[in-house]
Amino acid sequence: MSYQWNANLYQQKHAFVAEYGSSLIEWLAPQPHEHILDLGCGTGELTEQIRQSGAEVIGVDRSAEMIHQAKRQYPHVSFFVMDAAQLSDLPQFEAIFSNAALHWMLEAGTVVQQMYKHLKPGGRLVVELGGKGNIRQVISAVNQQRIRDEYPPIDISQQWFFPSIGEYSTMLENAGFQVQLARHFPRKTPLQDAENGIADWIKMFGQTWLKDIPEHQHPAFLQSVQKILYPVLFEEGTWYADYQRLRIIAVKENT
Ligand code: BEZ
Repeated sequence: MSYQWNANLYQQKHAFVAEYGSSLIEWLAPQPHEHILDLGCGTGELTEQIRQSGAEVIGVDRSAEMIHQAKRQYPHVSFFVMDAAQLSDLPQFEAIFSNAALHWMLEAGTVVQQMYKHLKPGGRLVVELGGKGNIRQVISAVNQQRIRDEYPPIDISQQWFFPSIGEYSTMLENAGFQVQLARHFPRKTPLQDAENGIADWIKMFGQTWLKDIPEHQHPAFLQSVQKILYPVLFEEGTWYADYQRLRIIAVKENT
């Protein structure tokens, strides 16, 4: 499914993606002069943070709009438009890093094989993606409202891949990785807009869920979804997204 990124809206209202990603850089612990690939780098904030540690980093993303914005912000960093399922022009790296991007890549098995291929022996993979059950409440509310309005429910498996620890670790092991650390944890994530936090999130990330609904009905639809979610995802003046994170460190063994 093709997805049209709006790099400006992404940066203005969803800066938390990069903010939470900073703690993943602590797991990466980049070293000066290490060659590191940031896979699905978006607008490049974390790529730049990795570079500041002294590592030689390359950021790739399949969205030309995101890469355009990344290059504009950080002209001294190397960014390329590239699909993670086809990294063939790239060399091998000491580490591959990816924050909040792998769940967009439905050809997950191919991406895992590509990551393995583009790591040097002994190299490490440090990733965070949406885990099983990610945004379950949001999806359920959208589907409740779609059914009430006589639209078919959405099937998110056509859009995202939110694996369990077992599922993703098995894929990594089958590709040859040794999984050294895996953690699946809930992270209720505060959204920026106190009034329309969920509506904004859906406009940014769930735009395909609105495609078959006439545009003039979008505001009412989104307000109905917010009403359903109010008792569970609105707390003390703040909207939250019910994120579940999967974090993994895996190593390509020296064989
Ligand atoms: C996530 O980071 O979990 C996510 C972001 C956008 C859409 C779906 C999931």
